[in-house]
Amino acid sequence: MADSAEVLENVKDYYGKVLQSTSDLKTQACVTPGKALNEYVKNAISEVHPEVSARYYGCGLVIPPGVHGARVLDLGSGSGRDCYALSKLVGKDGEMVGVDMTSEQIEVANQYIEHHTAKFGYDKPNVSFVQGYIDKLSEAGLQSDYFDIVVSNCVINLTPDKKAVLSEVHKVLKPGGELYFSDVYTDTELSDEVRKDKVLWGECISGALHWNTLHSLAKEVGFTKPYLVSCSPINIDREDFKQVLGDAKFCSATYRLFKLPEKPRKVGGGKIIYNGEIAGHEESFQFDHKTELAAGTPVCLSGEVLTVISNSRLGEEFQLDPGVKEVCCVKISEGVDPFLVIGEKESRGEKIEAACCGPSACC
Ligand SMILES: C[S@@+](CC[C@H](N)C(=O)[O-])C[C@H]1O[C@@H](n2cnc3c(N)ncnc32)[C@H](O)[C@@H]1O
Repeated sequence: MADSAEVLENVKDYYGKVLQSTSDLKTQACVTPGKALNEYVKNAISEVHPEVSARYYGCGLVIPPGVHGARVLDLGSGSGRDCYALSKLVGKDGEMVGVDMTSEQIEVANQYIEHHTAKFGYDKPNVSFVQGYIDKLSEAGLQSDYFDIVVSNCVINLTPDKKAVLSEVHKVLKPGGELYFSDVYTDTELSDEVRKDKVLWGECISGALHWNTLHSLAKEVGFTKPYLVSCSPINIDREDFKQVLGDAKFCSATYRLFKLPEKPRKVGGGKIIYNGEIAGHEESFQFDHKTELAAGTPVCLSGEVLTVISNSRLGEEFQLDPGVKEVCCVKISEGVDPFLVIGEKESRGEKIEAACCGPSACC
């Protein structure tokens, strides 16, 4: 497609007029297979109105641990499935805002505010939807340094200017806040033919970032490095799409990135203990795809990760033990390739789970 404006118009048309429900999708990119969710998250998703869930087009699970009482923004909120599940989990004193550029999506989402407010037993709604562009959040009226968490489910790939999106997110997050999002990634530079394919754009394929580019953009904008939480392959079955895509591979991946304070308190490597007090995560806390912290059990981590955790919104959920030497501490590796992670799991014969939940898969 010729330019950004054309891409945005095409995407608006796709999500406003072409697609009416999840079953209209032509690939598996939005809505990859679901894994068993913990009961806490599963219950919240199952309370979302079926008309909203029927229009779910996400590719991952964007409900991080520790949302109670938080202010959360959802980029490209669509019909509002994740917003309503989070509206339940943030509680009456939390706040949930969804932003989407497509009027038809905002209209559907707005229709169910009263229903969910009553269902969750709130006196007044804690959720609202704003029509606007995710690379222009200030123009959409969203305040700087306001949100604890920004989530997004299969949207940033649809936006031509990804760096502008990350910059705007950095602006609206409080220091210590977190961007926790699922999206589609590729392992190669996509050809012009792929980039120009309108249906593949709409299906979240043509605008996919090379996974490595996310790391450089995050750094340029001032985020911590992106930590990979989960990933799963996207298989494209249609012959005509396969012809256009050639050898390019795609996966859905969930990352977490933090906006640290300007002068973060530096912490050396050592032991950290998770307090087990986050609702729904009483037994353990998953930091990234391979770092799971069992409640009450000291775990040795590098100074880099301890600095991130202790300066983040999650800091008070952990206790640091400074008395341990750096040498015993695991360093979480830089720039993990999600395709390698998937390949390693496949070669070990492990069941590959997508941290994802389509309406039929697990709700
Ligand atoms: C694949 S759907 C995902 C919707 C929702 N997150 C879900 O999981 O059901 C993508 C959504 O992002 C919105 N969108 C795409 N590009 C956008 C942009 N630049 N600004 C705002 N919304 C955008 C579309 O209107 C659409 O509703």
